[in-house]
Amino acid sequence: MLSYRHSFHAGNYADVIKHIVLIEILEHLIKKDSAFDYIDSHAGAGLYNLHSEHAAKLQEYTQGVGKLKTEQWPELATYFDILAKYNPAGKLNFYPGSPIIAQYFLRRKDRSWLYELHPKDAELLLKHAAKSRNIRVMREDGFKGLLSLLPPVSRRGLVLIDPSYEIKTDYAQVFNTIDSAYKKFPTGTYALWYPVVDRKIIDHLERKFKRSGIKKIHRYELGIAQDQFGSGMSACGMIVINPPWTLTDKMSQVFPKLVTALGGEGAFYKCDVLVGE
Ligand SMILES: C[S@@+](CC[C@H](N)C(=O)[O-])C[C@H]1O[C@@H](n2cnc3c(N)ncnc32)[C@H](O)[C@@H]1O
Repeated sequence: MLSYRHSFHAGNYADVIKHIVLIEILEHLIKKDSAFDYIDSHAGAGLYNLHSEHAAKLQEYTQGVGKLKTEQWPELATYFDILAKYNPAGKLNFYPGSPIIAQYFLRRKDRSWLYELHPKDAELLLKHAAKSRNIRVMREDGFKGLLSLLPPVSRRGLVLIDPSYEIKTDYAQVFNTIDSAYKKFPTGTYALWYPVVDRKIIDHLERKFKRSGIKKIHRYELGIAQDQFGSGMSACGMIVINPPWTLTDKMSQVFPKLVTALGGEGAFYKCDVLVGE
């Protein structure tokens, strides 16, 4: 039984870094005229009311997106444009999740495949995202679902894998799924989000990627404090396979600024190459 609801966490620092990496990849994909497929294996509800009972409980967005002022971030102009689209009055009331962010870039010829297992969130996602014929919402296991779509007909695509890791086997499953997916579609871009709750688990995941034979693996991680065991998530990151060539340069400019804006004592970032060409 799934108990995780993203509505408690929407707009937190993890969403900020996940979504700015996502946007940079999507911006790159639409530079070419040819169609692409966007596959979101763990899509969530799509749009979050930051004043809902859930969001108001922890108010995590106040330590994430709520700390960023539009005028100070010209390099994140598209991120703020998307936020503005859902907050036309200027005040931050709604936070768009990954499927809605992807929708912003979708052209008629592109397709979006959204998997969400939680019955309530799948229902909300249908309401928020599935208004166009090229968007499909599926209440199915996204790990299995994404494999069934590869390689996509377009032969161009981005797969976002963003589990909640409430099931400990998710750490093994994200690697096994990407390993299988890469064999079916080695030219696709894969973006995997991970939390750092116990550094040993992430070191292990990193070693598996390094030994996998998969090429072009980059990592973007932001820690809001030094690693600590037993007090929740102190850092999180994105592992991106086949990133656009601009991504690491861009994140290397943005992450130092984000560390100052979002981090506390001991905050750090990593923008590095785990496996080269
Ligand atoms: C971190 S949230 C996703 C947030 C979303 N990607 C975003 O950035 O806005 C993870 C979601 O995965 C869903 N989930 C968990 N296991 C799943 C599975 N095996 N397949 C599809 N969805 C799953 C959860 O219900 C939850 O809504």
